[in-house]
Amino acid sequence: MTQPQSSIEVKTDKLPEILPILPMIDAVLFPKMVLPLLVIQERSIQLVDEAMSQNRIIGLVVAKEPIQEGTYTKKDLHEVGTSALILKMAKTEDNKLQLLTQGMERFRVKEFIKGKPYPRARVEYIKDEDKEDKKDKEITALMSNMISQFTRIAELSPGLPPEIVTMANSIQEPGILADMVASTINSSLEEKQGVLEIFDVKKRLKEVTRLITYQLEILELGNKIQSQVKGDMDKRQREYYLREQLKKIKEELGEKDEASVEIEDYRAKIEEKNLPEEARKEAERELDRLSRMHPSSAEYTVASTYLDWLTTLPWHDSTEDNLDIKMAKKVLDDDHYGLKEPKKRVIEYLAVRKLKPESKGPILCFAGPPGTGKTSMGNSIARALGRKFVRISLGGVRDEAEIRGHRRTYVGALPGRIIQGIRRSGSNNPVFMLDEIDKVGSDFRGDPSSALLEVLDPEQNFSFSDHYLDVPFDLSKVMFITTANILDTIPPALRDRMEVLKLLGYTLDEKIKIATRYLIPRQRDAHGLKSNQISFTKGALKQIITGYTREAGLRNLEREIATVCRGVAANVAEGEIMSAKIRIDDIPKYLGPIRIISDVKSRISTPGIALGLAWTPTGGELLFIEATAMKGKKGLTLTGQLGDVMKESATAALSFIRANAKSLKIDEDFFETSDIHLHIPAGAIPKDGPSAGVTMLTALVSLLTHKTIRNNLAMTGEITLRGQVLPVGGIKEKVLGAHHAGIKTLIMPKQNEKDRIKNSIVIK
Ligand SMILES: Nc1ncnc2c1ncn2[C@@H]1O[C@H](COP(=O)(O)OP(=O)(O)OP(=O)(O)O)[C@@H](O)[C@H]1O
Ligand SMILES: [Mg+2]
Repeated sequence: MTQPQSSIEVKTDKLPEILPILPMIDAVLFPKMVLPLLVIQERSIQLVDEAMSQNRIIGLVVAKEPIQEGTYTKKDLHEVGTSALILKMAKTEDNKLQLLTQGMERFRVKEFIKGKPYPRARVEYIKDEDKEDKKDKEITALMSNMISQFTRIAELSPGLPPEIVTMANSIQEPGILADMVASTINSSLEEKQGVLEIFDVKKRLKEVTRLITYQLEILELGNKIQSQVKGDMDKRQREYYLREQLKKIKEELGEKDEASVEIEDYRAKIEEKNLPEEARKEAERELDRLSRMHPSSAEYTVASTYLDWLTTLPWHDSTEDNLDIKMAKKVLDDDHYGLKEPKKRVIEYLAVRKLKPESKGPILCFAGPPGTGKTSMGNSIARALGRKFVRISLGGVRDEAEIRGHRRTYVGALPGRIIQGIRRSGSNNPVFMLDEIDKVGSDFRGDPSSALLEVLDPEQNFSFSDHYLDVPFDLSKVMFITTANILDTIPPALRDRMEVLKLLGYTLDEKIKIATRYLIPRQRDAHGLKSNQISFTKGALKQIITGYTREAGLRNLEREIATVCRGVAANVAEGEIMSAKIRIDDIPKYLGPIRIISDVKSRISTPGIALGLAWTPTGGELLFIEATAMKGKKGLTLTGQLGDVMKESATAALSFIRANAKSLKIDEDFFETSDIHLHIPAGAIPKDGPSAGVTMLTALVSLLTHKTIRNNLAMTGEITLRGQVLPVGGIKEKVLGAHHAGIKTLIMPKQNEKDRIKNSIVIK
């Protein structure tokens, strides 16, 4: 029980020189401030009792360390303290004292006086200078800054009453303001004692400013953290409540929430699609998982994507084949000129299907130089069969996963290109073109060609396994067609599975026909011209083919025709002309000067030069071989990036000549005094193979017998040391290449006669 004591007015103008000293343990009293105290120790209670019976004035000094036994002496206490008036005193039940004190004046202890159970000291009072009239600007600024910071602190600390700001505002004296702020803010005992010990008002203001700034920073940081945490919590809670409410509302309205609608949807789709057994099991398992997941979770998306794949794949959807052979023939002919062999194979395939519907078709591989119609033929075949067409390009594919997909455990996993293509086609029996199968690579990510093996093997592909789907898909109804520029780079196991059909390129006559019937009408339409608005003379077409393009296929020719059409269309649109008939002379106007000048004739003008033929992936090419002799001793130099086989055949040719010099009418001593140099220009391109043997021999003989070779003659063939000529490969390509370059006569190995019959080369 507390005993209230009425406060007594005490005169404080003259403060006593000797004060009883009450040591304080956890608070600092500043002048003019009011502080409640709890007095516990016996000797201190005695001190207060005695003070109460006198003038009620005591000295409060902060103790450095609390002491239980004995008396406080000088070394235990700070030097600076505050004299205080006891405003109120009350005794608690357990004989402790509650005091309310008011600070009066700072003092410094001069000396302690011995005796009594509590310390007493002689003190010297220190007053703030009365700065009222000489307040300088800096002090004013410090004060107003302090007040604004203090206001902010009061806002951020819920424990401080708002009136405290009004109070701070009303304080005129800088020293008191500093004391008041220091006593209110949450700094440490040492810091507060520090402020008490600063007698210079400006310094005190500055120190308190430092403390208050620090406090403010801490408060603001704490506030920020708290509001962030609160914000997060609020948002989540709000969402939760809203979602619950939404659920309830929907239930009331008899609606279902989105997730369960979606799940019903999938269930219906699985039913409707009549998935194969394994796929259905997998789909149902996934659906079950899905129904237990939260719709906004990442796994939910993964599972629903998978279900989308399963339910949209054409497991049983086939298109019906067009078995009308006549019509199929017409479609093929409409789209492409020539290409008899591929067309024939397609018609055969159709005929077999008609007789035996379940028969497995061949896997065709169209091989040949660029622009010869491989890709577009695939499209046309699909049209002729009445099937969907999909094409994927395998060029640059190095990763098995591109063919077979990634396992579902990978983030962002998808099926491989085969399954993607099937879904795109929407049927399980499309014509599926695997373009550029010769450009499949392999590296550490696995070998895509082994996955292709499975795709293309009729014995295996009825249960093709894609890593993503994880259930087999039947590819056996798909008609696969592959294309390649060269066959050498296709792994043998893969090549074995395919029936290779060569598309070798077109002769000038064929190109003119194709241009007239297919390319010109197509480009004309593409450029918005009518059939009577543009035409080409045969001469003009010939000029474009020989003067502006050099290719086995038709791609550049089509591009040049497009350029002409564009030019004509522009002229028509500008109203300059109504229609155009393109003659030879008009061509430079649209295409610029002639780009390809046949230099064959001018280059073969001296002895020692012969024309050979080379096979390249883009078609046949002419090969110039130059020989020259100079003073030296039996040397043979070979230049032009020749491979080993080619070098050997050069040496063989030279040895043959030396061995037969007499019969060739060559001076036998010639070699004793001469070096021979054989060069094959276009040195940047590596060349190899034995097929230039005959040509090198001819160049050398020409040089040594001083006879110039006919300039429209080319040759190919391997030569042996005995002078026998062996057959070589790539005859049709070489013949076409020579033909494009304007060569009229070719010399070929006798044993290559079979190629002539097989390819039915008829070139006038
Ligand atoms: N026999 C032909 N009759 C009509 N047009 C043809 C014929 N051959 C090719 N073309 C046309 O030539 C163009 C090029 O053909 P395509 O793109 O099929 O070449 P490709 O053989 O696939 O070449 P690449 O090896 O570079 O892929 C196409 O516009 C095609 O229609
Ligand atoms: Mg192609």
